[in-house]
Amino acid sequence: MRTPLKVADIFQKLSRALTVPVTGKIRLGWEDCRNYRLIARIIEENGGAAIAVHGRTQEQGYSGKANWDAIAEVKQAARIPVIGNGDVKTVADIEKMKRYTGCDAVMIGRAAVGNPWIFARLDRGQVSAEVLRQMVHQHLRRNQAFYGEHKGFILFRKHAPSYLKFQNMPRALRTSIISQVDAGNFLSLLDAYYTAL
Ligand SMILES: Cc1cc2nc3c(=O)[nH]c(=O)nc-3n(C[C@H](O)[C@H](O)[C@H](O)COP(=O)(O)O)c2cc1C
Repeated sequence: MRTPLKVADIFQKLSRALTVPVTGKIRLGWEDCRNYRLIARIIEENGGAAIAVHGRTQEQGYSGKANWDAIAEVKQAARIPVIGNGDVKTVADIEKMKRYTGCDAVMIGRAAVGNPWIFARLDRGQVSAEVLRQMVHQHLRRNQAFYGEHKGFILFRKHAPSYLKFQNMPRALRTSIISQVDAGNFLSLLDAYYTAL
């Protein structure tokens, strides 16, 4: 976003060369250069098919509150669809952001980690323990099919705490489950917990 001409060049070249829609995702810019309105216009004028706006600056990282007013500003000025992003944590937040900003769609990041059901409009508390257990199995199986048995399990372990964090699981058990080095032991402990529920 510090080099608007480069953004223009990239979008122009990509949108001419490709047959698929080329979309952009931006933050608000930098604290000393909050140029999201300019960049959004550049994306639109150079063939961008849609734009997602994360309502934070580079320096903010994931902290502070996402600025939904800025998303509304982009939506008001744009002719291409605008996807709002930042701090949609619950199903209710989806409609709240749409109403507040007028955006055409909502992008969800962190709230989907451990709750992929949010895309089916279910908050985490609405998902039964059994459905959750099955999802953990499925996610692990697919990770292993993709990355191989061992690596798939190790990479999966970073997701496990998010799946388990809403359970009233004793802390020591959770720590023990997510630090297992063997997928079989991991699943046995997990299943034993759910069977006992
Ligand atoms: C696990 C994870 C991976 C992400 N990967 C990307 C990425 O590859 N590109 C990107 O632009 N943003 C990425 N993000 C940021 C999100 O798209 C989003 O902008 C940010 O999390 C704010 O939305 P949220 O409040 O819904 O989390 C990622 C976020 C998470 C949690």
